[in-house]
Amino acid sequence: MTVLLSVQGLSKTFGGLKAVSGVDLDVAEGEICSVIGPNGAGKTTLFNLISGVLPPSAGRLVFAGRDLREIRPWHFAGIGIGRTFQNLALFKHGTVAENMLTGRHVHLRSTVFDAVLHLGRTRREEIAARRRIEEIIEFLEIEHIRDAVVGTLSYGQQKRVELGRALASDPKLLLLDEMVSGMNREETEDIARFILDIRDQLGITILMIEHDMRIVMDISDRVHVLNFGEKIAGGTPDEVRSDPAVLEAYLGSKHGRAEPARGEAAAHVG
Ligand SMILES: Nc1ncnc2c1ncn2[C@@H]1O[C@H](COP(=O)(O)OP(=O)(O)OP(=O)(O)O)[C@@H](O)[C@H]1O
Ligand SMILES: [Mg+2]
Repeated sequence: MTVLLSVQGLSKTFGGLKAVSGVDLDVAEGEICSVIGPNGAGKTTLFNLISGVLPPSAGRLVFAGRDLREIRPWHFAGIGIGRTFQNLALFKHGTVAENMLTGRHVHLRSTVFDAVLHLGRTRREEIAARRRIEEIIEFLEIEHIRDAVVGTLSYGQQKRVELGRALASDPKLLLLDEMVSGMNREETEDIARFILDIRDQLGITILMIEHDMRIVMDISDRVHVLNFGEKIAGGTPDEVRSDPAVLEAYLGSKHGRAEPARGEAAAHVG
């Protein structure tokens, strides 16, 4: 097992609040890993630390053998850490293809000066970028909406474009923050299939935050559970499902979409 991402004693405090507190976890190359936990558990904050959106208060991140403290946060995408955002980060007035090209920019080396001095390289990069975008559009089966303005699409379609934008950066590790929230059963199953294909066909390691226990338990190799910023459990879906601390965290949570009282989660956690 080759560890692709190692999270070691990672913490983030906001004022007096410990949003992420001493979290340790490893993600092996080729795995599909899930991070679960009640609302406000620190899941998105953990992703913000891993993707360089926020600096850690303490702890260490090692990605592909490199200590991320030695790399500028805006280069994290360029070394292979891609992500989607819980609240979609798309340009509503742009087309699907244009939005996906924005995910590609981490690989465009040409500057404005290059554009003037080395027209050839700029053009080659642009042609390669467009070719890659077309491959991803085909992979995600969104050819029919490639020229549609994103703001006119359904929420489920926009989520798929967001996934495409993240794939366009050719990540080694893809962080998915609640891909299926707000999706119906059929859309959820489509996304589950795409996540498996992204791992199996594109060879991309997945770390995903999910409240939908069905998809978590169905497709994850490992599941890590956060509660009040701390990791309270980690293991295979079966191990986590039968962990008393996990049940306790969910039963104790008075709010949250993963609350077992909602039925679906109760059937699967516990
Ligand atoms: N930039 C910030 N400044 C201050 N507090 C923050 C910030 N970001 C998150 N928090 C707080 O940190 C805690 C963890 O939030 P986070 O968004 O990571 O939770 P989450 O597990 O992703 O929740 P959800 O399931 O609702 O998406 C919350 O109490 C939140 O209010
Ligand atoms: Mg969140």
